[in-house]
Amino acid sequence: MSTLIETERLFLRELEFTDEDDLFEMDADPEVHLYLENNPVKTIDEVQKAIKMLKKQYEEYGIARWAVVDKSTNECIGWAGLKFFNGPINNHNKFYELGYRFKKKHWGKGYATESSKAILDYGFNNLNTESVFAMVAPKNLNSKKVLIKLGFTFQETFDYNGDSTDWFELKKINWGNKKANS
Ligand SMILES: CC(C)(COP(=O)(O)OP(=O)(O)OC[C@H]1O[C@@H](n2cnc3c(N)ncnc32)[C@H](O)[C@@H]1OP(=O)(O)O)[C@@H](O)C(=O)NCCC(=O)NCCS
Repeated sequence: MSTLIETERLFLRELEFTDEDDLFEMDADPEVHLYLENNPVKTIDEVQKAIKMLKKQYEEYGIARWAVVDKSTNECIGWAGLKFFNGPINNHNKFYELGYRFKKKHWGKGYATESSKAILDYGFNNLNTESVFAMVAPKNLNSKKVLIKLGFTFQETFDYNGDSTDWFELKKINWGNKKANS
């Protein structure tokens, strides 16, 4: 699969089965899953199933989370991207949600912010959407910092399958302003 987007330090492309070792390294780490469902993977088989599911989303919706690759080493350091939700969540239906996840050794280097900026540009310019949403555990401060840097605003806390979850929104009109000011 060829590169979809290139940023200063990163390539973004669709995930492939050959990314399984990198994703296993990331998703077997309990710290990475602390604010997710707290259920790190234990086998490579679970990673393969996840990649298979993403490939189905690429086919159905033309988009899903993408591999984030360090240009200087060619390592897949994690994923980021827009997931299309085709059913109702928190009174919204058929919407794009921004998500990201990286190997712990690569946190704090600005990769979530850099990849997300390129993804949001792609989303607002190519997907005919007026808003992108994000869902985050209230205690996940690093993730919230990224959302706020990108211009998302907190809307409300809602119950997502029994978990208290913060709901954020970035409107296309504000993305334009944000870029002009940054
Ligand atoms: C949340 C996550 C994606 C952020 O990725 P990242 O590439 O580290 O994010 P960035 O570097 O762009 O920004 C993170 C912010 O937290 C700050 N930070 C401080 N200490 C940090 C640390 N130990 N690790 C990561 N970020 C840290 C960064 O400095 C930055 O803020 P700043 O720009 O004000 O300095 C990453 O921590 C991760 O993969 N977490 C596990 C999965 C997860 O929770 N995903 C989000 C679900 S909603």
